[in-house]
Amino acid sequence: MSIRQLQQIIHSVATSDGAGVSLRRSLGQSGAARVDPFLMLDEFSSDDPDDYIAGFPPHPHRGFETVTYMLDGHMLHEDHLGNRGDLLPGGAQWMTAGRGIIHSEMPQQESGRMRGFQLWINLPAKEKMKPAAYRDIRPEEIPQADLPGGGTARVIAGSIMVDGREVAGPVQGLSTQALYVDMHLTDGGEFTQALPAEHNVFVYAYEGNLDIGPADNRRRLMTQDAGVLSGGESVEFKAIGGAARFLLLAARPLGEPVVQHGPFVMNSSAEIEQALADYRSNRLV
Ligand code: CO
Repeated sequence: MSIRQLQQIIHSVATSDGAGVSLRRSLGQSGAARVDPFLMLDEFSSDDPDDYIAGFPPHPHRGFETVTYMLDGHMLHEDHLGNRGDLLPGGAQWMTAGRGIIHSEMPQQESGRMRGFQLWINLPAKEKMKPAAYRDIRPEEIPQADLPGGGTARVIAGSIMVDGREVAGPVQGLSTQALYVDMHLTDGGEFTQALPAEHNVFVYAYEGNLDIGPADNRRRLMTQDAGVLSGGESVEFKAIGGAARFLLLAARPLGEPVVQHGPFVMNSSAEIEQALADYRSNRLV
């Protein structure tokens, strides 16, 4: 079985978005820094409320999905449909913007740590204009598996096999077949997993460092770097120099043109023009 290698490293860059939320962007910092169907990955992590308290006031999206996963702190979500949800530490929100959503994402604490991720996953052309939907996933809905090689895995979407047993996350049945796993490896801990050969795979290290690839050809991924893996049938990870925590993301590539304008991601410039016109005339949603 061929083991995927660490093919490309994307260093995250410090930036800000929303009303001045400090974050680190790896995927999505440029049009070239994407891994089909993944468009963008932001990590926000701060003890200083000035870095996050202004949040993301009402803004639109069309054509893709956003996944917010919180490690620390609370985030309140409200949308134009009247939906409202409070994201808790260890919880996630899976939002399908579809044809359009206008929402706000606001931190709910004025002191303490705020830490989490937002991932953007593209939708296939035939699903870009479907009705908006979202799902709040409580922390206890996310299964956590002990890994035989040392550590734990929390599965948010898709499934992994641990000791011959399937560990299935709460989000299933996406056309991109996305896998989203929060991995914690102990110092020297190892994890091996078969993944569909036709899927794209990337990893984001948010604490510690890890080696990726077969034993005879390992390459190191450092904290706050995203690693894009080569093709292959399985992945192998080993925490180096301490415990490592990272996101493991995999999905079926769409192979469709991507035209992005801020919070709108479509297949053509004409569709972007339409999204802008719809938004200006209150017909986005
Ligand atoms: Co948003």
